[in-house]
Amino acid sequence: MSRFHFPAWINPLLPAVVGFLGIGALYYTGLFAYAVHPATSDVGYRPEQPVPFSHALHAGRLKMDCRYCHNTVEVAAHAAIPPVGTCLNCHQGVDQNGQSPTVAIHVNSLKLQPIRESAATGQSVVWRKVHDLPDYAYFNHSAHVTRGVSCVSCHGRVDRMEVVEQKATLAMGFCLKCHRNPTPSLRPVDEVTNLAWEPGPGQENIGQEVAESLRIHPQENCSTCHR
Ligand code: HEC
Ligand code: HEC
Ligand code: HEC
Ligand code: HEC
Ligand code: HEC
Repeated sequence: MSRFHFPAWINPLLPAVVGFLGIGALYYTGLFAYAVHPATSDVGYRPEQPVPFSHALHAGRLKMDCRYCHNTVEVAAHAAIPPVGTCLNCHQGVDQNGQSPTVAIHVNSLKLQPIRESAATGQSVVWRKVHDLPDYAYFNHSAHVTRGVSCVSCHGRVDRMEVVEQKATLAMGFCLKCHRNPTPSLRPVDEVTNLAWEPGPGQENIGQEVAESLRIHPQENCSTCHR
């Protein structure tokens, strides 16, 4: 049996064939670069905020629990951004009755000027959104934080950030990687806001134990996130 040979008339076309392959390679390189580019996934996005609020100070050094401010995170899809009243619990000079409050920190700080103005005028401070999924993807905070998935899995070490920055792509592949096999990412529910938590001695199988006690299963159906 003779081996197959391309007919001779192909030869003049070879440069074009090679050209097409080259363009194809370029196209896919470009597509890949686009897909992983920070502007697409928004990793590293850290907009400047109207008040230089530091998580490294409040959640890190002062050890305030995330839920003191993001108080809907366990019960709602969205994690509320606190109103200025929450800040004024500590940063207010005089309370509504003109009395000096028991806690009064940096009451004349220029950095806190927009907070005082907001309280005086009733116009809320316009914080700039850092994380933003497209509308066709459904996300729910309470479904995660009440099931042993920590903030750190999706937001990184916020307690070390002076300015909040997006750490994970939040792309479909990122969500699915965990949804296919959530067990290794699970921790005791009361440790979800303790971003520094690591399994202690005797907790080698903690993910498995949490998964069993809360009956957690892989969630890969399209309708979980696209409804
Ligand atoms: C004292 C109040 C306070 C505490 C405590 C606090 N935060 Fe925040 N957080 C804010 C405010 C105000 C903003 C909006 C301004 C900004 O982005 O820095 C914010 C923004 C965020 C954002 C970005 C939201 C967006 O726009 O996408 C994340 C994520 C976040 N916080 C996570 C955490 C985590 C995790 C903890 C606990 C380790 C925590 N926060 C503790 C007040 C707080
Ligand atoms: C499984 C991933 C995941 C976990 C766990 C998680 N978040 Fe988020 N977070 C997101 C996503 C995704 C968004 C963007 C939501 C959107 O655009 O609709 C977000 C947005 C936010 C926002 C902005 C307000 C909002 O709801 O859009 C805050 C504040 C926030 N997260 C705080 C927290 C805190 C505090 C915790 C832990 C108690 C936490 N997150 C746990 C994925 C997560
Ligand atoms: C539980 C008390 C408490 C709450 C609530 C609180 N802070 Fe603070 N904040 C502090 C303390 C304490 C410091 C000062 C730490 C230091 O100077 O060592 C501080 C410092 C600051 C500073 C730096 C001020 C300067 O001039 O250096 C800013 C800005 C700030 N906080 C913003 C906020 C905002 C915005 C909120 C509300 C989202 C808030 N804080 C809520 C306790 C609090
Ligand atoms: C680190 C692990 C992890 C990551 C990352 C993660 N999830 Fe989840 N997700 C879970 C777990 C665990 C559950 C609860 C599963 C159960 O109850 O059996 C869950 C539940 C959900 C639910 C609720 C399902 C229901 O019907 O109650 C939605 C919606 C969801 N995830 C969307 C997302 C989206 C969108 C992303 C990406 C932005 C994401 N998740 C990233 C672990 C994760
Ligand atoms: C755990 C949550 C989750 C599940 C399950 C999921 N998706 Fe997605 N999907 C997302 C998120 C989040 C995005 C938005 C990604 C982004 O911001 O780029 C997305 C984006 C998409 C897009 C837009 C193009 C793209 O890739 O960004 C399509 C199409 C899509 N999903 C189809 C599906 C289909 C089909 C299934 C079932 C086989 C599915 N998804 C299951 C979370 C999910």
